[in-house]
Amino acid sequence: MTSSDMDPRAFHAFEHAGWERAAEFYGDAFGGLTVQTAAALLDAAGVSAGARVLDVATGPGSIAGAAAARGATVVGLDFSAAMIAEARRRLPALTFREGDAGALPFDADSFDAVVMNFGLLHLARPDAALAEARRVLRAGGRYAFTVWASAEQAVAFGMVLRAVEEFGTKDVPLPDGPPFFRFSDAAETRRTLEDVGFTAIQVQELPLIWLLPSVDAVFEAMSRGGVRTAAVLRAQTPDALAAIRAAVRRGVEAYACDGGFALPMPAMLASATNSQP
Ligand SMILES: C[S@@+](CC[C@H](N)C(=O)[O-])C[C@H]1O[C@@H](n2cnc3c(N)ncnc32)[C@H](O)[C@@H]1O
Repeated sequence: MTSSDMDPRAFHAFEHAGWERAAEFYGDAFGGLTVQTAAALLDAAGVSAGARVLDVATGPGSIAGAAAARGATVVGLDFSAAMIAEARRRLPALTFREGDAGALPFDADSFDAVVMNFGLLHLARPDAALAEARRVLRAGGRYAFTVWASAEQAVAFGMVLRAVEEFGTKDVPLPDGPPFFRFSDAAETRRTLEDVGFTAIQVQELPLIWLLPSVDAVFEAMSRGGVRTAAVLRAQTPDALAAIRAAVRRGVEAYACDGGFALPMPAMLASATNSQP
């Protein structure tokens, strides 16, 4: 796929419909994993008491909650009404609003820090979202985001993708989107943040571990709590899906630990400064 093949509106609509559907399941499926980045993400963005913080693609709101626990004044933003409802249900004292990462409903210079935890890889126009984050930051404000490390490192993704290749098909009619693992590449992240005008760029890997109670938890999470992979799984024949499920189960079994399974799921954390007035 080249960028000229992609219709960003079609991909955006596909992601939006997917998150509306997944909102009810996402927090329980992935929330215990994605929240593990909170301290490092907020440290990288310089979030402390009194800071004005925007959490873009907030989902069920756990990063916004962690920022509020530091004494920051936080807004959590998400384009899915169902996710915003979920965030408000979990954290009724916080401020959440609907909005698009690519067209933030805030004036320039509104925040001391902007963060985005595992959101960038879902956007039709990630570069536009980075530019928007910079626009709403004050001069000297910090931006920080996380994405998954490569599919080889974040092993649950590798397991599912390999099982689909072996027992099913990846050739399913989904709108083309930007590569899921584009920002897993530190050099690409640095280049893109520089192009948007950020400075003092730092990229590091975070060693997350996905603790799971059952051998089927990866398949269940990927089937119901996400968007692109869930759509690929839904498009398989029943026989192929059963074989994929069995292969993923075998993959998870290799990570057995006391009381369950412990899968390495490292993330890449990038942060940068808006040094321009
Ligand atoms: C993988 S979830 C991450 C949720 C949360 N930040 C976390 O760490 O668990 C991705 C979130 O991005 C949101 N999202 C995707 N595209 C968006 C966009 N263009 N604007 C705002 N939110 C978006 C989805 O609705 C979803 O809640």
